[in-house]
Amino acid sequence: MKKVIFDVDTGIDDAMAIAYAVNSPELDIIGLTTCYGNVAVDEATRNTLAVLEKLGRNIPVFAGADKPLNRNPREGFAKHVHGEDGLGNVLDFEPQTSAKSEYAVDYIIEQVKKLPHEVTIIAVGPLTNLALAVQKAPEIVELVSDVVIMGGAVFVPGNVTPHAEANIFTDPEAAEVVFASGLPITLVGLDVTMQTLLPRQNVDAWRNAGSEVGEFFANMVGFYHDFYECANPGIGGCGLHDPLAVGVAIDPSLVKTKYIGVGVITEGEEDGRTVPLSEEEEPKINVCTEVDAPRFLEHFLKRMPAGQ
Ligand code: RIB
Ligand code: CA
Repeated sequence: MKKVIFDVDTGIDDAMAIAYAVNSPELDIIGLTTCYGNVAVDEATRNTLAVLEKLGRNIPVFAGADKPLNRNPREGFAKHVHGEDGLGNVLDFEPQTSAKSEYAVDYIIEQVKKLPHEVTIIAVGPLTNLALAVQKAPEIVELVSDVVIMGGAVFVPGNVTPHAEANIFTDPEAAEVVFASGLPITLVGLDVTMQTLLPRQNVDAWRNAGSEVGEFFANMVGFYHDFYECANPGIGGCGLHDPLAVGVAIDPSLVKTKYIGVGVITEGEEDGRTVPLSEEEEPKINVCTEVDAPRFLEHFLKRMPAGQ
């Protein structure tokens, strides 16, 4: 089993990724850390606690950064994609549990030092928490087992601008710090996640399976599907961005990668763009360029609530 710290900005695909991760025997999610991004950090924390309660899992949650390293959060966050509450406007209860008091950044540092070479970090929101951890304790770079990041669009267009993917666009400076840190990174960007779309009929099956948690997820993902259909008519599904990062942490053979340096543009019209660097540039990271989408989708669906 891989010990995992899961860094999230819980919106809808984060919620699906949490369900997939906690239902995967290969992963031992020792803690979740939250960040602003799709919603404000207190909403991301509430959503993470609520999703874990829905799933009947009691895993510690630690609240993290409430804004980018050197910028203000995006106006309105990404509520047009994930809903006012960040969960497709289906959240109808306050979680009974609370986040732990330790700051997420300190939790990451403490756990990586306590469990040298054992902790995998899966990061599926803006990279602010991870950047702050590396800046505060650079020695953790050599102690992390591996890092799987959902973010970037290295050889394909962006999703929040023609050039930039949302997680990187939200905090480009944090991404720059993380990509230049020497951490053992696998970057799961739009290069592969836009090939892993979830068809609406699979979500309807969750609703029809008769479980309360299946209905919760079906209703939540319905909002996300509506956004994708509206923004890209005929696209045929919604992006399984964050779940694919979990899939790659479970089974790296799902993707093919290029080992290259990645830079981040931090100003101007291409602000937030992730660019491939030349052969000599270091450090390099594993950039996902191909994915076995059917095999991933089947693996994901089997482990979702009311999975078939
Ligand atoms: O671009 C997609 C990413 O941005 C996903 O992580 C989604 O949850 C949002 O955070
Ligand atoms: Ca996310």
